Amino acid sequence: MLAPPSAPVDLRSDTVTRPSPAMREAMAAAEVGDDVYGEDPTASRLEERVAAMLGKEAALFVPSGTMGNQLAIKVHTRPGDEVIVGAMAHPVLYECGAAAALSGVSLAETKRPFFSAEELAARVQPNAYYAPRTRLVAFENTHNRAGGRVWPAELLAGAVREARRLGLATHLDGARLWNAVAASGTTAEHLAFGMDSVTVCLSKGLGAPVGSVLAGSRPFIQDARRLRKMWGGGMRQIGHLAAAGLYALDHELPRLRDDHARAKAFAEALAPVAGFSIDVASVETNIVNVGWTHSTDVRVAIEMLKTGRVLVSSLGPAQIRVVFHRDVGDEGLAWTVDRFRSVAEILGKDAS
Ligand SMILES: Cc1ncc(COP(=O)(O)O)c(C=O)c1O
Repeated sequence: MLAPPSAPVDLRSDTVTRPSPAMREAMAAAEVGDDVYGEDPTASRLEERVAAMLGKEAALFVPSGTMGNQLAIKVHTRPGDEVIVGAMAHPVLYECGAAAALSGVSLAETKRPFFSAEELAARVQPNAYYAPRTRLVAFENTHNRAGGRVWPAELLAGAVREARRLGLATHLDGARLWNAVAASGTTAEHLAFGMDSVTVCLSKGLGAPVGSVLAGSRPFIQDARRLRKMWGGGMRQIGHLAAAGLYALDHELPRLRDDHARAKAFAEALAPVAGFSIDVASVETNIVNVGWTHSTDVRVAIEMLKTGRVLVSSLGPAQIRVVFHRDVGDEGLAWTVDRFRSVAEILGKDAS
């Protein structure tokens, strides 16, 4: 019998991670200034560091991944334009319709989260007076709704090449680019190759309380900085937050592989259990989409897990989302597997 954990195992998202004592110390000790005057040395250091990691000229600290994506869309487009995104892309599902509200653009989803050069070319609008002007292609890597999967390398290279050949701007939503780096064994610069702009997040799985970074060319970042101010995102002594980001880059990135290993172990343990449907091979990073095949409503299963001190989220009527991160260790993993098995067993009996 496993002992229940003292606090619930929170697998709803990797955004729930909290700063470690060492990160808090780094935040408290940060040298700061007024960043709206361009005088915060720690924020500038973070921006330069991330720009270099992504192979871009410049970068901008922003409060959230959403703001990074939306600034990019705004700078790259004009009202009436169209942006091509993969199926279930974050700006389609989770950004409050901001692309329409803030930039006046429409989002055109491809059939799948990861699309080929041919699919991209077919999705581009004709050059006709009545058609929206296709202007930007946004890639999401890893892809949140596709279970944290990494863009297949050759497919990505082909699609990016095609976008450039067609004269389209390219944006990478790399909220979890660090996970893609850890899973693929390549560099962030390599995964950002050919992208005009990139958003990366520091508050997903890395313990930083706030913060994303938008990178691109110097003129692009100049425009984005102005818009960030317009949208109320000009911040003052943000070095305290940037210090958390710098700490995360130094100390947390190498650890992401542990989260991936736990996600895989969880998937392997649950895949044979009746009631669940898991494609183990598709678990490439820290996210596991668990299909729920019992006839009982998935919300009942989620409530039972919650009573058993395991928090997860639902993805529609027949799917559970489980996200591993730095605050879930091996004990949390073992407890989670145990509770999932128990729920399947109890609801399985009820159904029979
Ligand atoms: C792929 C992706 N892009 C963007 C975001 C937005 O980040 P934020 O919650 O910081 O706005 C998220 C958040 O989970 C995400 O998963």
